[in-house]
Amino acid sequence: MKNRKGIILAGGIATRLYPLTLAISKQIMPIYDKPMIYYPLSVLMEAGLREVLIISNPRDLVIFKNLLEDGSKWGMHFEYKVQEKPNGLAEAFILAEDFIGKDNVAMILGDNMFYGNNLPKILKHANERENEATIFGFYVNDPTPYGVVEVNRDGHVLSIEEKPVNPKSHYAVPGLYFYTNEVIEIAKNIKPSARGELEITSVNEEYMKRGKLIVEKLGRAMTWFDTGTHDSLLETASFVQTIEKRRGMQICCPEEIAFRKGWIDAKELSNLADKFMKTDYGRYLKDLAENGIGDE
Ligand code: G1P
Repeated sequence: MKNRKGIILAGGIATRLYPLTLAISKQIMPIYDKPMIYYPLSVLMEAGLREVLIISNPRDLVIFKNLLEDGSKWGMHFEYKVQEKPNGLAEAFILAEDFIGKDNVAMILGDNMFYGNNLPKILKHANERENEATIFGFYVNDPTPYGVVEVNRDGHVLSIEEKPVNPKSHYAVPGLYFYTNEVIEIAKNIKPSARGELEITSVNEEYMKRGKLIVEKLGRAMTWFDTGTHDSLLETASFVQTIEKRRGMQICCPEEIAFRKGWIDAKELSNLADKFMKTDYGRYLKDLAENGIGDE
């Protein structure tokens, strides 16, 4: 299978979270017990992607380097790239050209969180699709703040629009995109939108025109959060706390995923846990290292 690289876009200035983000990145904000970026990173890891480029603005990139380092502690490889100005999501593929090389690529936005039983299967399918792009459709009451996709009964994509005033469907497009290597060339050729950005929706439109855009609907059992406002930040944190407490299992824990995937062994996991032994997080990792993985 063709190799696929991962990108996390953690840029922007997050004015919707002011004053929280006046001096620090949105994607480092806590979602209950972990920094926000752990959640999208976990999705890429779940998809089996071990080489990841983290893109952020000149002010914040260093924070992510301090947090994530070179990735080797989780059996991964991380690289970093500055996005000088918030010129749009699609610019990521131009900035990532050397990193992507000849591979396919998946990008996730640094403030998107996904949770659900079907996720590994959905990611596997998207990853295995080597010659088409895969995006997702998530039914929401009000899709106007998002990209909105319209799909007919046969799964054929009819339209895709960015933040439409009169949306043609209820299906928002979450910030997770699986693309072929052509995305570099596509991103270079799209024109900035009225708000002056290289829109990811323009990239998706181009794939649609080429007949290579697959939309996978995320069903009822899936949850998608975009943590870009004060309320959604707190709601997402409460959700994570509720599930983790009730089940005694972690959500989007990179150390655990790396261990389950066999990217690190029990000894390495145990060493990582030693740092966090004053927290439930650390004790959870220790237990995992000592007693192995259960059924789930
Ligand atoms: C971006 C994309 C939009 C997508 C959303 C998902 O919007 O432009 O198509 O639905 O992310 O989070 P933004 O949140 O940057 O306004």
